[in-house]
Amino acid sequence: MIHKILVVGSSNTDMTVKTAKLPVPGETVLGGEFTMGGGGKGANQAVAAQRLGGDVSFFCKVGKDIFGDNALKSYEQEGMDISLAKRSDKPSGVALISVDSNAENCIVVASGANSDVRPEDIESIRDALEGAEIVLLQLETPVPAVMKAAEIAHAAGATVVLNPAPACDLPEELFRHITLFIPNETELSRFSGIKVEDADSAAKAAGAMKAKGVKDIIVTMGSKGSLIVTGDGCKTVEACKVKAIDTTAAGDTYCGALCVALSEGRTLEEAAVFATKASALTVQRMGAQASIPYRKEIENQ
Ligand code: RIB
Repeated sequence: MIHKILVVGSSNTDMTVKTAKLPVPGETVLGGEFTMGGGGKGANQAVAAQRLGGDVSFFCKVGKDIFGDNALKSYEQEGMDISLAKRSDKPSGVALISVDSNAENCIVVASGANSDVRPEDIESIRDALEGAEIVLLQLETPVPAVMKAAEIAHAAGATVVLNPAPACDLPEELFRHITLFIPNETELSRFSGIKVEDADSAAKAAGAMKAKGVKDIIVTMGSKGSLIVTGDGCKTVEACKVKAIDTTAAGDTYCGALCVALSEGRTLEEAAVFATKASALTVQRMGAQASIPYRKEIENQ
């Protein structure tokens, strides 16, 4: 069965420790509470899209281990289609996360099975890529696989959304297959070669990305909101004023939510407002998938 939103990406198990301050190199700090839960940028985005009312299919690769079993079981319980998911001989992805008292985090990922997603795996899901309305990609799976997915989906006329996180070197050709690019300020600086410090420099850097072939851009800027750059110009969407306790998966919630709103025919600006509300709820809770809201929570606001 073909679904409107196809997320191709990573699945991790997150192991998170809350700490007053993040350690500097060589330092040991005593942290607080430990939690373990679902994570991975791909999975978080798929879970967000599903909880927020999307018709979602998720492709990922997990290991033949208990983490992989639990991850697939939980995606199924969320109600998303995971019939495309595959198993790898490598262990399932794991992320070690520290979150400080300012809600900032630092994350180290052992990619494991995520690093085993190959262009052949992507070729094997060609029908789903060609049939989806929106294909949502990130960079926790190898670039050749991301490239292949973007190429197939773009050629079939899908809206190809790329959240370029974590940033890494990309072939310039990839940008020509991207309909909507959603970087944060750091990622945009890296890909455009222009230092992004404020809305003006973000608009200039977004212009540089358009020249590389990306159609539209939304720059996420945390508490400064998001900047939409299309052929019609720039528009800022204000952030919601909330007290953040953990920013993990805020960007993922934003991307998943945005795709849901677009799949419902809303404009980019309407979609960005919806995504902003969703990610504002995420930052007020601990964890990745544990913090992602449901549609009714936004409608009840
Ligand atoms: O974006 C947050 C995610 O990054 C975490 O869930 C972690 O697994 C890493 O992939």
